[in-house]
Amino acid sequence: MGITSKPVVFAVLSAAVILIGSTVTVFIPLFMPSTQPVSAYVKPYTSVELEGRDIYMREGCNNCHTQTVRPLRTEVLRYGEYSKPEEFAYDRPFLWGSRRTGPDLNRIGGKYPDSWHYRHMQSPQSMFEKSNMPPYGWLAKNRLDTSNSYKKTSILGYGFSEQDVQVQISQYRSKVTADTYLSKETRDLVTPAELHHELTEMDAIIAYLQKLGRDVKNLETKK
Ligand code: HEC
Repeated sequence: MGITSKPVVFAVLSAAVILIGSTVTVFIPLFMPSTQPVSAYVKPYTSVELEGRDIYMREGCNNCHTQTVRPLRTEVLRYGEYSKPEEFAYDRPFLWGSRRTGPDLNRIGGKYPDSWHYRHMQSPQSMFEKSNMPPYGWLAKNRLDTSNSYKKTSILGYGFSEQDVQVQISQYRSKVTADTYLSKETRDLVTPAELHHELTEMDAIIAYLQKLGRDVKNLETKK
C-alpha cells in the first residue's frame, strides 16, 4: 500500500514539506540582511521628491509606467543600466508596476532637462502627437502641500530632522523660482502667475522624476 492510500498521513506529510519549503524559501530570506541590500550610493528621497512620489501614486502613473529595467539586452539598450535591488531600499511601497503603456521610468532622471518635463506634463500630445498619456497641466495650478512632509520622512525612517526637511523645501523652492533657473521660461509658461514664487505639485513630481535612476547614473560616471 502506497502513501497515497493513507489520506491522513499524506496530508500531514505534505503539510510538513510545504512548511519546511516555505520556511527555507520565504521566512529565512526575509530576515537575511543580504536580501535587503543597502548601498551608500543610493540616497533617500528628499522631502520634495517624496511629495512628488506621493503625487505619482495618487495620479496612478504606475498604471501605465513601470520602474524596473530588466536585465535584457533590448531593455538595457533602450533605457540604460538594468535595475538593482538596492535601488529600491527607500521605496515603500515599490512602484515596479506591471503595465507598460508608456516607457519604463526607472532611468528617466537626467534624461531630459526640467523644461522638457514641464512641457511634456502640460501636454504630451504637443510633443508626441499619438501619445495617449493624459495631460497633467493642472498639477501646476496646485500649491504643494508640505504640511505633512516631515511626518512622512520620519515614518519612512529617512533620518531627516524637521529642520532638514524645511531646508530641503526652501532650497528647492529657491532653485525653481530663481531667475537663473535654466527651465524658468517653460515653468513660468505652465505655472499660473500667482504660483511663480511657490512650489507646485508639478515642481514636486518633476523633482521626483529627475531622481529616478540618478544615483546609479552618478555611480556609472564615476567609474
Ligand atoms: C494612459 C497611460 C499613461 C498614464 C496614466 C501616464 N503616462 Fe506617461 N506616458 C505614456 C505614454 C504612452 C508615453 C510615451 C509617449 C509620450 O512621451 O507622451 C509616456 C511618456 C512619459 C514620459 C517620458 C518617458 C521617456 O522616456 O521619454 C514621462 C516622464 C511620463 N510619461 C511620466 C508620467 C507621469 C509622471 C504620469 C503620472 C502623472 C504619467 N506619465 C501617466 C502613458 C501614460
